[in-house]
Amino acid sequence: MTVEVNYRPGPSEASVAVEQRDPGGRPAHKPAAPAATRPTAPAAPTTPPAAAARPAPAKAAVTDDRGLSLTTTPEAARLYNQGVYNILGLRKGHYDLIAQSVVADPRFALGHAAKALMAHELCAPAIVPDELYLASLYAEKATDRERSHVNAVQSHIRGSKTALVDHVRRHPKDALLLNSIMPTILFGGAVEVPAEAWDVVERAAPAYDPDDWWFLGTLSFVRQEQLRFDEGMDLAKRSLELEPAGGHAAHSRAHCHYEMGDHVDGLKFMSDWVDGPGVGADPIDHNAWHAAVHELSLGDVAAVRRRYERQLDPAKMTGCRALVDGGQLLFRWAITPGAQPSPDMRLILDLVGHEALIHPATPFHAYHAACVLTGLEDVAGLKTLAAWAAGRRQPVFREAVAPLAEAMGDLAAHRPGLAADKLALMAPQVRRLGGSDAQREIIEEARIAALLKAERFEEAVIVLEARLSRRHAPRDVAWIEWADQQARAKQTAAA
Ligand SMILES: [Fe+2]
Repeated sequence: MTVEVNYRPGPSEASVAVEQRDPGGRPAHKPAAPAATRPTAPAAPTTPPAAAARPAPAKAAVTDDRGLSLTTTPEAARLYNQGVYNILGLRKGHYDLIAQSVVADPRFALGHAAKALMAHELCAPAIVPDELYLASLYAEKATDRERSHVNAVQSHIRGSKTALVDHVRRHPKDALLLNSIMPTILFGGAVEVPAEAWDVVERAAPAYDPDDWWFLGTLSFVRQEQLRFDEGMDLAKRSLELEPAGGHAAHSRAHCHYEMGDHVDGLKFMSDWVDGPGVGADPIDHNAWHAAVHELSLGDVAAVRRRYERQLDPAKMTGCRALVDGGQLLFRWAITPGAQPSPDMRLILDLVGHEALIHPATPFHAYHAACVLTGLEDVAGLKTLAAWAAGRRQPVFREAVAPLAEAMGDLAAHRPGLAADKLALMAPQVRRLGGSDAQREIIEEARIAALLKAERFEEAVIVLEARLSRRHAPRDVAWIEWADQQARAKQTAAA
């Protein structure tokens, strides 16, 4: 079963089909044979507002998994808790379970708020307004914490992070909203720079049980972003002992392996995990991308091609993942010496649409869009993206996205020397673009490719050697050998 959801809000909306998935499960809250409840058209509210405008009396007889009161029925709470568990664990079925919770209790404020939040994050904006309306309506008779929760979700979706951050500071055990602040696989995050999210997570730590598998995985992700890879790895392993299917811990462990240049063990872990405890992960695309990047780093292009055909064909991806994971892989693959032919970048264009590339929803999407447009040699598209970003109110668009798009425009227009210089100049802005270090590395990859195209081989080798000093990668070693060969060939030709 599929449902059409908008890829992103914007001047012209592309749309993609999102596959309905069976919910994953866990022993404590696994629902019995859940029915599909996701709407098949731009959403009407699950309960029409006019008919539902009779808030139930305040009653908080049930709780979430961390003991916070929920004003709803036991059955709706069970479905909601399973849905939140699947969100926190990156498991299939999270959206459907949340949707079922508001079918079970149409007056469940936090169920409607979670449905709105997930629709927003899954690029399905048509569903959001009605769910926000219902969440706000029923929150009037809920607890103070639930009203604050609903207000935080509303403010976040409308573009203000303040209420969300304040709410989590007052209610640190509200794990769903703490999760939504961190830019991770399912959430775009609510911070300008990673350090803001680190602070929120670290301040929340005393509220959590030392054996809370989700919080351990989240703290692990923070530690690896802080370049404290050994601590990040230990936390991830501890979390996975408690919940082997926990997607955040598995994802954080993948980043630790990658940043430590531990490609063989990292590949083995992720390959085993996606076919083992993580087989119910949602989305699987990003974890498969991690495995493919290990394979690419090892120089095993045949393995990348096999994984692409099995797990990473953009046509099989959903929503934003085609641009992010598909675009990342195809761009890196295309610039790897000796790895051609790589799949045609037009696959991404066909899936997400040109408007999503020239008017991306977030800075995170924007740098992926810039790479896809470069792969397409769409000089006009990059020029449009640069001009549009330069006129945006949000500083990160003006100060990071616009210069990036301009530099990539030079690369696409076969002015690689100019592109390399501009990419070097904007490097201090890169961390503001969102995502992980491993994802933002694609901009460094573009600079290396530009230097090589400009036949500035020594400079390319300096960048590659600096990267090798941080972490080992056979691909980078081979890239240096290739650059040296090209430099010698140039010298011979000139002699
Ligand atoms: Fe990642």
